[in-house]
Amino acid sequence: MSTARTLYVVVCAAGPAEHVDRLISPALAQGWQVQVIATPAALGFFDTQAVEDLTGRPVRSRHRAPGIPRSPKADAIVVAPASFNTVNKLAQGVADNYALDVLNEGIGFGIPVVVLPFVNAAYAQRRPFQRSVALLREEGVRVLLGEGAFVPHPAGQGGDAFDRFPWEQTLATVEEHLAERTE
Ligand SMILES: Cc1cc2nc3c(=O)[nH]c(=O)nc-3n(C[C@H](O)[C@H](O)[C@H](O)COP(=O)(O)O)c2cc1C
Repeated sequence: MSTARTLYVVVCAAGPAEHVDRLISPALAQGWQVQVIATPAALGFFDTQAVEDLTGRPVRSRHRAPGIPRSPKADAIVVAPASFNTVNKLAQGVADNYALDVLNEGIGFGIPVVVLPFVNAAYAQRRPFQRSVALLREEGVRVLLGEGAFVPHPAGQGGDAFDRFPWEQTLATVEEHLAERTE
C-alpha cells in the first residue's frame, strides 16, 4: 500500500486546464500521489487519458458507483484552474457536482485547500466574486489572487496569460499551509 501523501487536484472548465500537467508533474516529483477531480464541464477542457497515464489514477468527475474503490483520502486539495463559477458556488456552499462536494467537505474537515483562479478582469471586477474570495479566505482557504499570484488578464487575452499561470505556487502554498498546521 502506498504511503505517499495524496493531493487532490480539482480542475474547472477554464482555459489553462489543458496544461494541468504543469501542476501534476511537479507534484509527482515532490512525492505526492495525485488524484485529479474534474467538474463535469472541465472534462472537455483537457486530455483525461493523458492525465490518467500521468497520475496512474482515474480522473473522477462523479460520485463513485457501488463497487468502485474509494479514492485515497486527501492530505491537501488544490483547485486549478478555478473558474469564476466554481469559486462563487464554493463560497456559497453549493455542492451540485462531485468536485464541489469534495471541496465543501474538505473545507469543513479542515483539509488545506488552495484555490488558483483563472478569470479575466471583467469577471474579477464583479462584487459577488470579490465577496466569494473574501468568504473563502475567512474560512482559511488560500486564494492565490492578486499581485504575486494570479493577476486577472484583460478579457479576450486569456491565451496570452496561460504561460504566466503560477501552477507551482499552489504546491508551495500547500506546504506552507501544512507546516502552519503542525506548528
Ligand atoms: C472555451 C471556454 C473558455 C472558458 N474559459 C474560462 C476561464 O478561463 N475562466 C472562467 O472562469 N470561465 C471560463 N469559461 C466559462 C466556464 O467554462 C463556465 O462558467 C462553466 O460553467 C464553468 O464550469 P465549472 O465551474 O463547473 O468548471 C470558459 C468557457 C469556454 C467555453
